[in-house]
Parts: sequence; structure tokens; C-alpha cells
Amino acid sequence: MQVSGKTVLVTGASQGIGAEAAFRFAGRGAHVHLVARSAELLDQQVKRITEFGGSATAHQADLADGDQIRALAEAVPTPDVLVNNAGVGRWLFLDDTEPDELLTMTAVPYLAALLLTREYLAAMRARGSGWIVNVNSPVSRVPIPGCVGYQSARWALRGLTASLRLDLRGTGIGVSEVIPGKVSSEYFVNNPGAEERIPGAARLMIPSVTPDRVAKEIVAAVEKERAEHLFPWQLKAFEISGRLFPNLTGYLAWKTGTHR
Ligand SMILES: NC(=O)c1ccc[n+]([C@@H]2O[C@H](COP(=O)([O-])OP(=O)(O)OC[C@H]3O[C@@H](n4cnc5c(N)ncnc54)[C@H](OP(=O)(O)O)[C@@H]3O)[C@@H](O)[C@H]2O)c1
Repeated sequence: MQVSGKTVLVTGASQGIGAEAAFRFAGRGAHVHLVARSAELLDQQVKRITEFGGSATAHQADLADGDQIRALAEAVPTPDVLVNNAGVGRWLFLDDTEPDELLTMTAVPYLAALLLTREYLAAMRARGSGWIVNVNSPVSRVPIPGCVGYQSARWALRGLTASLRLDLRGTGIGVSEVIPGKVSSEYFVNNPGAEERIPGAARLMIPSVTPDRVAKEIVAAVEKERAEHLFPWQLKAFEISGRLFPNLTGYLAWKTGTHR
């Protein structure tokens, strides 16, 4: 899908991957709706886009709240492209995670993507066009120890993507899943304790990518209508190894990962 002249809604656009994706879509001539909780950071991103000649609108919403998702969908007409990117979650053993925190890290990204996509789906179907991008984590492909709530939510997001892809076949609505390796955003500052849990094998093999690189791949996924994109190639190799040699890859992740 060509994005010039289209509308794009990006969740989690106040910083990191989402902010860069919004900037890139605007640079390609789309009008971008940026969504997150922090009004101040959103305004900064809108200013950055408009100073570069782009077109953007900020929408403050807490996507962990179903009522706010409905209100957002009422305020923003059905976009041509929906990027479900907002996400949180510390990496913890299940019995170390308080129930409220488990609910929060399941609500965003998984329930937010599920509910927001549902809000727009009927109108996309009626129009016979649309594109949905779900930004997912490497742990949705290769599980690691000590990360139960975060990891389960990302597997649920993977399941949502696969389900939608089948249901939307032939409707004119496409679905992409973009899965970067470790990204040099503020994620690990915003979710302390997670970075230390990346297994040694993954740290050694898979280089970090920048939020700007991820943004470029998100835009390319829409423009080239790609179903799934894992990168960098070292992550793809790890994922293939996980499929071909699940026991060995699982053992490596466990052996070089977090133990109690
Ligand atoms: N960083 C990585 O290594 C990496 C790798 C692969 C995939 N990912 C995934 O990519 C996504 C974006 O990550 P990032 O690295 O850009 O993280 P980030 O820098 O921490 O940004 C997270 C974004 O999500 C928004 N957000 C969080 N909770 C929200 C809520 N309840 N309602 C609305 N917006 C909310 C945040 O905005 P506010 O705080 O203003 O609401 C922020 O804009 C996440 O789902 C993450 O799991 C990250």
C-alpha cells in the first residue's frame, strides 16, 4: 500500500519505535495520528513532524483502559494504516509479578491491539482496504526464562496477528508483523530489570537496532505488503534454529539466561 495521502494511526508514538515510525510515515506524505499517555511528549513529536513539513495530530489515551480505546476510536476516523506498537512490561518470573502488573503488561500491547483493531475493522471491511501492523518482540519467537507475563502477552499478540491474517484474506485488508531484535530505545529504562534478562547467547549473537531502523522496516512492511519481518538477520537465524532445533535452542536460552 502506498502511504502518501493516507492516514496512519500509531500507538505508543510519544517516544521510541512509535515516535520514529510516526515521523517516517509523515515523511512519506501520510497524515499521522500519534497516541500515547504523555501529552507533553506527544506534542514534542507533533512539533518535530510539523517542523519538517509533515502533518500530525496528537491523541492522549491510556490504552490499558477499554473506555479510552472506544473514545479514541470515536475521535479518530478509521485510518488507512493502524500500527499497534504501544507496549510495556518488566521481565519477571510469574511468582515475582503482582497481579496488577500482569494485567497491565497484558493490556498493552495485547488487549490494546485486540480492542483497537476491533474498533476499526468493520469500517476497513466496508471500505475494502486497510493495513494493520503489529510490532512484536523476539520472545514471541524464541522464549527466554524469567519473563512470563511479558512473553505471554507477545505470544498472544502473535496469535492475534495470525488469526487476523487468515480472517482478512481476500478482503483488501493486510496484516504485517514486524519483529525487531533488541532496540536502542528507552524501553529498558522504562521497564527496569528487563535488559539483564536477555540470555547471553542472544546478546553475543544479535546486534541492537535503532528505533529509526525499526521505523524504516515498519513503513517498508506496509509499502511492500510484507506479512512478517524479523530482523536483523542474526535474529532470523536464531528463530530458524528455534524451529529446527527447539531443544538445543531452548537449552541455550535457558543455560545463558536468568536462573533463581
Ligand atoms: N526496545 C526493544 O528492544 C524492543 C524490541 C522488540 C519489540 N519491542 C516492542 O516494541 C514496542 C515499542 O517499544 P519501544 O522500544 O519503543 O518502547 P518505549 O520507548 O518504552 O515506548 C513505549 C511506548 O508505548 C507507550 N505506552 C505504554 N503504555 C501505554 C498505555 N497504557 N497507553 C498508551 N500508550 C502506552 C509509551 O507512551 P506513554 O508512556 O507516553 O504512554 C511509549 O510511547 C513495545 O511493544 C516493545 O515491547 C521493543
